[in-house]
Amino acid sequence: MCGIVGYIGTRTAYDVLVKGLHRLEYRGYDSAGVAMISPEGKLNVYKTQGKVEDLERFCDSKDTAGTIGIAHTRWATHGEPNDINAHPHMAPGGRIALVHNGTIENYGVLREALEREGRVFRSETDTEVLVQLIEYIKETSGCSTLDAVREALREVVGAYAIAVVDLDNPGTLIGARKSSPLVIGLGEEETFLASDATPIVEYTDKVVYLNDDEIAIISRSEPLKIITTDNQPSQIDIKTLRMSVSELEKGGYPHFMLKEIFEQPRTINDCVRGRIGNSGSQVTLSGVIENKDKFLNARRIVIVACGTSWHAGLIGKRLLQEIGRIPVEVEYASEFRYSNPILDERDIVIAISQSGETADTLAAIQMAKERGAFVYGVCNVVGSSIARATDSGTYIHVGPEIGVASTKAFTGQVTVLAMLALAVGSIKGTIDKQVKADVVKGLRNLPSLITKTLKLNDQIERLSATYTYAKNFLYLGRGYNFPAALEGALKLKEISYIHAEGYPAAEMKHGPIALIDRELPTVVIAPDDEMHEKIISNIQQVKARGGSVIAVITKGDETIREIADHVLEIPQVPECLSAIITSIPLQLLAYHIAIKKGCDVDMPRNLAKSVTVE
Ligand code: F6R
Repeated sequence: MCGIVGYIGTRTAYDVLVKGLHRLEYRGYDSAGVAMISPEGKLNVYKTQGKVEDLERFCDSKDTAGTIGIAHTRWATHGEPNDINAHPHMAPGGRIALVHNGTIENYGVLREALEREGRVFRSETDTEVLVQLIEYIKETSGCSTLDAVREALREVVGAYAIAVVDLDNPGTLIGARKSSPLVIGLGEEETFLASDATPIVEYTDKVVYLNDDEIAIISRSEPLKIITTDNQPSQIDIKTLRMSVSELEKGGYPHFMLKEIFEQPRTINDCVRGRIGNSGSQVTLSGVIENKDKFLNARRIVIVACGTSWHAGLIGKRLLQEIGRIPVEVEYASEFRYSNPILDERDIVIAISQSGETADTLAAIQMAKERGAFVYGVCNVVGSSIARATDSGTYIHVGPEIGVASTKAFTGQVTVLAMLALAVGSIKGTIDKQVKADVVKGLRNLPSLITKTLKLNDQIERLSATYTYAKNFLYLGRGYNFPAALEGALKLKEISYIHAEGYPAAEMKHGPIALIDRELPTVVIAPDDEMHEKIISNIQQVKARGGSVIAVITKGDETIREIADHVLEIPQVPECLSAIITSIPLQLLAYHIAIKKGCDVDMPRNLAKSVTVE
């Protein structure tokens, strides 16, 4: 996690850096800092515990002049969030400052070695080890800062994206990456560096994504140069960004999360556009067409993902099995990578990730590739590490997701997985023509069904006031809606800090039923589908024990209306797509409960959007 910004050009670097940090704050927000080289040749470093707005207050009366600088917003890994552990870290000589995203795994060994040389450390971070190592190499060998950076990076084990400024080269910014993202933005007489393109997009649409083991030398007077840590020149591959500034703003909503929930009619439209037509039942996914034989001959599919993306994966499993008739397993990427999985070239691994940067998912992909599997990505962020590491894939195209709690990415992921299942079912001939036509029609109708579902917002806002007292919540669902129950529970716990558990409704009687009393609200996802009768008896079991029930039901379901305490009515939707619709009232419920409890929904405590550490 952590966000990095760097700037060199003609503007006041501080302004660009702070604006960029606000954009990257979703990556971590427990401390923030900036380092600029002033026109007088002073390296000014300011950093403080707290959010970027705290840093701005801290810098109010400071000298922030200069047209070159680096900045950082932190999600703590090594060392608690405080002023000293905040980045940038300066080498003791006071001439080099560095910001870092990632984890230096061998920092303990390196630190001890440097301490034996008499070097004294101020912070508990792995990052300070890196900047001290750079200074040490420079001082002992007399080499340039660039060579010292290169040498130091060859000694560290782990993941990093770094940006470095030093007083000996006040016209040069150095950036480097390994397993943590770094993007360079090329403007007119100015260059930007950032963890993703969001701080860059309003200045230029020309970007270069740095690859692993590459170092960028960004100079005021010379064109961009990229070398490898082995000192070999690298190709510079300039890409054009497809992102707009308005996508990065709240657009009149109080929070990004609410904006992103309400964007879903449009994002799902963007997701299906060009992939299903305005009529007919054709589904066109270029990733499947280009790799038809892989899907035709696959022995099985293994889906790897984390968090919300893993929940989408559970729905994907059902879709691919039911429609594509391929055996599917779903694994937490963090477990899979250490499980010595049985995989070979007959297997397809589908990696699902909104950010495309999740460290565990990336590591799972690398392992799958080493074992010969074909790896297919379902990502949101274009050009992200996972999108680039996979053999092929389908973007969900829902636009930047900034709220830390994933909402529109989840519905986009499930939509892509549904299209993937249809595409695979079509080439394998495992899907009935009429079923396919119905599901494609369902996909086409999703934006309007979501618009109807969003009308529940006012009702859910009123309802949420009733439940802020709750210390625990139970979410129950069956079939396609069991993962929706898991997702609903995750949304509630991450932004309202209320403990919530998702369970398959029928499993409740094997344990969780013991928890039910007047204090435990149960959310039951009970659309009118094959499981309807069964889930009614699950609701009755809760009611019989004094529990209160909020039920998500299909419009007009009088039976459940009679027995539940509250009902949230959604429109009719094909069963295999229903989680896309049922998840929306659950997103709104979590949002409104968290707001009523006074929680910061866009930046919940301890969390960060992009988990680039193990
Ligand atoms: C929850 C949430 C996380 C992410 C998880 C994986 O709202 O956002 O659980 O889903 O960290 O992230 P990606 O999808 O970026 O790999």
